[in-house]
Amino acid sequence: IQKNDLEGKVITISAGSTIEPIDPVRYLTNHSSGKMGFELAKVAANRGAIVNLVSGPTKLTPPQNVNFVDIKTTTDMKDTMLNLLPKSDVVIMAAAVSDYRVKEISNKKIKKDGESLQLTLVQNPDILKELGHKKGKGQIIIGFAAETNNLENYAKGKLKSKNADFIVANDVSRKDIGFGTDENEVIIFGQNDFKQKISKASKEIIAEKIFDVLSMKGE
Ligand code: C5P
Repeated sequence: IQKNDLEGKVITISAGSTIEPIDPVRYLTNHSSGKMGFELAKVAANRGAIVNLVSGPTKLTPPQNVNFVDIKTTTDMKDTMLNLLPKSDVVIMAAAVSDYRVKEISNKKIKKDGESLQLTLVQNPDILKELGHKKGKGQIIIGFAAETNNLENYAKGKLKSKNADFIVANDVSRKDIGFGTDENEVIIFGQNDFKQKISKASKEIIAEKIFDVLSMKGE
């Protein structure tokens, strides 16, 4: 049965990784495939939401009927998400943001010279934290937490420090779920000690269940 419970909502979702250039041909990035964020976007659109999908480079085809914005760097993603925040009812940061960028990007290709190369990296802004602290009344902000240990403690810490309404946490030390795989298993943490485990399932089912939690909580 087709649910239409997200009708009238504007949902903005980030997905994939961001990339940080070193020079015109090289960049830093991470292992995110973008699958979780793209599934969230597809499911939200199918359930009636107006969806903005803000994504770094991925191998995926954007779902139909979403407003797709492709970006490259963390700065691009931050600017886009902050622009979309005032128009959004729900914002989900499913992207694996590059935590660092190269301090000085070379405008020419760096030549090999047989020596070691040192790059100075500076920390990128925390987009989720900025969204969490700028959100208005009634807006819901959701983040992800990929952890290898102490999942619950770290997730609850992020709920607080980033002022998020929900943190969707998963254990990335497991090879069968998370990065690059088609399946996931998550625990959703929310305010007032809300905690709900979603057992291992396809990322599509996980996306459906994340929106079920939002609907159930009347948000
Ligand atoms: O702090 P950590 O990277 O573990 O938090 C993960 C959550 O924060 C994810 O939702 C991710 O999209 C978001 N994040 C962000 N900006 C960063 C780093 C992470 O929005 N620079």
